[in-house]
Amino acid sequence: MSRTRSTSDVLVIGGGIIGLVTAWRAAQRGLRTAVADPEPGGGAARVAAGMLAAVTELHYGEETLLGLNLDSARRYPAFAAELAEATGHDVGYRACGTLAVALDADDRAHLRELHALQTRCGLGSEWLNGRECRRLEPMLAPGVRGGLRVDGDHQVDPRRLADALLAACERAGVVFHRAFAERLTVVRDRARGALLADGHEVDADQVVLAAGSLSGRLAGVPDRVLPPVRPVKGQVLRLRVPPAYAPFLSRTVRAVVRGSHVYLVPRENGELVVGATSEELGWDTTVTAGGVYELLRDAHELVPGITELPLTETRAGLRPGSPDNAPLLGPSALPGLHLATGHYRNGVLLTPVTGDVMAEALTTGALPDEARPFTARRFSPVHLEHA
Ligand code: GLY
Repeated sequence: MSRTRSTSDVLVIGGGIIGLVTAWRAAQRGLRTAVADPEPGGGAARVAAGMLAAVTELHYGEETLLGLNLDSARRYPAFAAELAEATGHDVGYRACGTLAVALDADDRAHLRELHALQTRCGLGSEWLNGRECRRLEPMLAPGVRGGLRVDGDHQVDPRRLADALLAACERAGVVFHRAFAERLTVVRDRARGALLADGHEVDADQVVLAAGSLSGRLAGVPDRVLPPVRPVKGQVLRLRVPPAYAPFLSRTVRAVVRGSHVYLVPRENGELVVGATSEELGWDTTVTAGGVYELLRDAHELVPGITELPLTETRAGLRPGSPDNAPLLGPSALPGLHLATGHYRNGVLLTPVTGDVMAEALTTGALPDEARPFTARRFSPVHLEHA
C-alpha cells in the first residue's frame, strides 16, 4: 500500500451531516479542513425522517437537552436559507407543525403527562379532542381520542440536507479523503491526525471525531477518551402519496402505540416517511419482517388509508446513542481531539447548532455557553464521583 501524506488544520473523521456541518463551518472560518469518510453524505441521515421535534420528543430529565434542541430549531430557517444561498440546494425545510395523538386511554394518559411537562417548560402545545384532531387531519382514524397540536415542531429532508452540506463543503474548499480513518495518530499525548484505510496519512493540528455510531471504536484513541456511544437501530419506511390522494397529511402525525413510537412525516414532494423502531442490536442494519410489520400495523391504526399507498423503500440506520441521550461536543481529554457525536434521536435537529459551536471550539479553543453542558467531561470518572 502506498503511503501518501497531506496536512490540514482540521481533520474531521466522519462525513455524515454532523461531520459535514462541522467541516463547512470550520472552512468558513478560514481553517484548512479535511474530511475522512468512504462515502461522505451517507450515514444515518440517509435513513432519518428529519423531524425537528424538540417539543414532541421531550422526555423527563432532559430539560438541559431541550435548551440545546430549541436553540438549534430556532437557527434552522436562517441555516436552511444560508445553505440554499451557498449551494442552490433546497433542504426541504417545512414549517408544517406536528400533531401527537392518542388511540386509547393509556396513550391519552401518556400524552397528558407530556402536555403537563411541556407546559411546565413553557412550550407551545395545545390539547385537542379527537374531533378537533380529525378536523386538522381528516385521514386520522375515527378512534383517535385526543392529541397535542405543536405548531413549532417542523421538518427538513435529511437526504437533501446531506447533499447540500456536501456541496457547501466542496465550495468552501474542504478536502475529501474517501476512506475510513483506521487509526488516530497520537504524538506526545496529542492527537495529530489519522492513518486512513487506503494508506494515506493526514496530519492535522486538530481532529474532530464525528463518526456517528462508530465513534466509540476508533483505534488509537485512549480508552479513557473514547466516547461512550453505541448504535441504536431504527427501521424506517418510505411510501408515496399519488397525486390523487393528496393532501394525505398536512403535518407530521405521531403517536405512542402500545409503548412504541410511530410517526408519519409527509413531504411536499409526495414522500411519506414512516418510522421508527428502536433496537439495541449492535451494528445490525437488517430490515426485518417484524420491524416493517410493527411500523405498518401502528401507522395503519393511526391512519388506515396508508394501506392504499405504494411502499417504495425500507431501510435501517444506526442512531449514535449516548448514556444520557445528549450529544458530546467540543474538546476531549486528549489535547487536539474534539468530539461531535452521540446526537442519538436529534442529529438532524442539532445540525445547525453543532456546526456553530464546533467552529467556535476549533477557532478559539472554548465552547460557547449553550454547548458547555455537553462536553465529554460529564462522563469522566472524576466528574461522576463529584456529581
Ligand atoms: N427522532 C426520531 C428517531 O430517532 O426515530
